[in-house]
Amino acid sequence: MLPLPSTEPAAAAVAAPESAYPARVPLWQAGAVQAGALLAVLALTTVVPAAVAVNTDAMTWALLQGIVAAALARVLGVDTWWLPIHALFVPGLVWALGFGLPPVYALAAFCLLASLYWGVSRTRVPLFLTSRVAAQAVAELLPQGRSFSFLDLGCGPGGVLASLARARPAGRYHGIESAPLPFLLARLRAALTARSCRVSWGDFCDLDLGQYDVVYAYLSPAAMAELWHKARREMRCGSLLISNSFAIPGVPPAQSVEAGGSRLLLWRM
Ligand SMILES: C[S@@+](CC[C@H](N)C(=O)[O-])C[C@H]1O[C@@H](n2cnc3c(N)ncnc32)[C@H](O)[C@@H]1O
Repeated sequence: MLPLPSTEPAAAAVAAPESAYPARVPLWQAGAVQAGALLAVLALTTVVPAAVAVNTDAMTWALLQGIVAAALARVLGVDTWWLPIHALFVPGLVWALGFGLPPVYALAAFCLLASLYWGVSRTRVPLFLTSRVAAQAVAELLPQGRSFSFLDLGCGPGGVLASLARARPAGRYHGIESAPLPFLLARLRAALTARSCRVSWGDFCDLDLGQYDVVYAYLSPAAMAELWHKARREMRCGSLLISNSFAIPGVPPAQSVEAGGSRLLLWRM
């Protein structure tokens, strides 16, 4: 395990870091923007009927709706990354309808995405995976010469757990995941690869972090402030918090480790 410098900076850092993100995804705001754009386009057709050709096709309407929605979102100060989503949402629907596929395809696509990204509108943590190089670097950071307990917060399909269980068999590995499909894959993988891996379905906010020697998180900037509060409340003295890529606002890590294209940030509690 790599030596860690003093953790005093982390312990003494700002006690209550604030997330730069609002607590909830403004889904209602996205709906309101699209509804507002629709009203604006409808108003245009009634107030200035001559401005719109009678035979305008569905895609032209959709593009107009998209442009108005993106402009409205911009005026309302919505995050920039939402603008292309607003611009392309209705044109995308019209484009997909053009294929004339049975509605069951749309239902299947919706179910697949929902089972992969379940709860993301609340947690703001989508699914993406730790690279093999980063998982190897995490293995190097685990305690040497003794057994230890490890938790992957939001374990996705369980790749990190499986890889660590192979590399460091002395550990007991636990993953918790709230999205159904990744959870099922992680369960299956754990059953097939290692007895030392256990996977639960649930929200890690409800899990006591005090049971673990090492807690690993690959989440998103939106989750980090709350995670720090929880870690400070619950993690044992001397245990290790590792975040892949995402910093805790106002709390410098005790150490950071480059791992391929990723950076592991470490806090000793
Ligand atoms: C970026 S992925 C990381 C997956 C895996 N840990 C890895 O490194 O390959 C984050 C995962 O955390 C899950 N997640 C997010 N918030 C969660 C929560 N509050 N409780 C349980 N799982 C959560 C998401 O569903 C997603 O699968």
